[in-house]
Amino acid sequence: MGNGPLTRNTSGVANVPQRGAGGSFLRLVLKRALRRLGLLDRARWTRDRVNALAWLRHDRRFLRRGDGDGLPVPPARLRILTTASPSVEWFIQSGRSGADSIRDLLARNGVPIATIGSMLDFGCGCGRVLRHWADSDLQVAGCDYNVDLVAWCRRKLPFARFETNTIEPPLPYPDASFDLVYALSVFTHLPPALQQRWIGEMARILRPTGYLIVSTHGEGYLETLTTDEQDRIRGGQLVVHHDEEAGTNRCGVFFSEAYVRGDFAPGFDVRDYAPRGARGNPPQDLVLLQAQATPRLGSTPTTTPPPP
Ligand SMILES: C[S@@+](CC[C@H](N)C(=O)[O-])C[C@H]1O[C@@H](n2cnc3c(N)ncnc32)[C@H](O)[C@@H]1O
Repeated sequence: MGNGPLTRNTSGVANVPQRGAGGSFLRLVLKRALRRLGLLDRARWTRDRVNALAWLRHDRRFLRRGDGDGLPVPPARLRILTTASPSVEWFIQSGRSGADSIRDLLARNGVPIATIGSMLDFGCGCGRVLRHWADSDLQVAGCDYNVDLVAWCRRKLPFARFETNTIEPPLPYPDASFDLVYALSVFTHLPPALQQRWIGEMARILRPTGYLIVSTHGEGYLETLTTDEQDRIRGGQLVVHHDEEAGTNRCGVFFSEAYVRGDFAPGFDVRDYAPRGARGNPPQDLVLLQAQATPRLGSTPTTTPPPP
């Protein structure tokens, strides 16, 4: 990722996860010391402010050129939370690419976006991708477990409906609510047990034969892993970093295509697998799954099933 003006630091942890325990030895020592002193949050805040200031002039020029999308831009703190970069240009352009890659993946599988009535952006963050559906006829919903991100979306993106949820299912939607759910850079931060529960929940809130699109850390991340981890990936296993921090960018989960096609999503058929296809979240893979036609109950049904 990152050409032209974006070469400074657009490689968010969401997109380019950190190796092993999270960087060089020196960084680790410094982090531990700051944590012990109770200064880690303050240090991170300062780092983000300095980073945001460095981008200010560039972003002003970008917006003055009229290259934005006319919608409000979230503050740097929220942009960093979802992309690990304060760049407004990256926020808007990568979000647009994300929406385009969803539209294109559906289209090449014979599903024009015009046939989708309702969609959910699961783990929507501060609406980086969702904002690019503003001019569509779709019924758009977004949810996230981070209340700050959802609060901003509710205030600034009134064309969509937003809900908060918790790290575990359920979601506050009735069964069969959506034609499409997509989750970009979300399952990449959920350890396998949580992934399975969320897949069950996706099956519940999707109508039968509805679509689920997820991005994964695939082939493009192999070189960031140790040799042992690469072997595990090639053997069809998942590799998980920091599973104790599930849902945050520090938890990184790495997949193989074989795993996705095998154990990842019971109740779904893999319709398409696009290596490095998540263009707004490079170099993540993009997977199109279709819920099987037989209605199933998800892990946590919120409505009573009909009698047999
Ligand atoms: C790397 S950010 C990506 C945000 C957005 N999908 C995007 O592409 O800009 C990951 C997002 O997933 C959200 N998230 C992680 N676990 C979640 C969960 N269990 N339920 C809802 N949101 C979750 C985080 O709060 C965060 O906003």
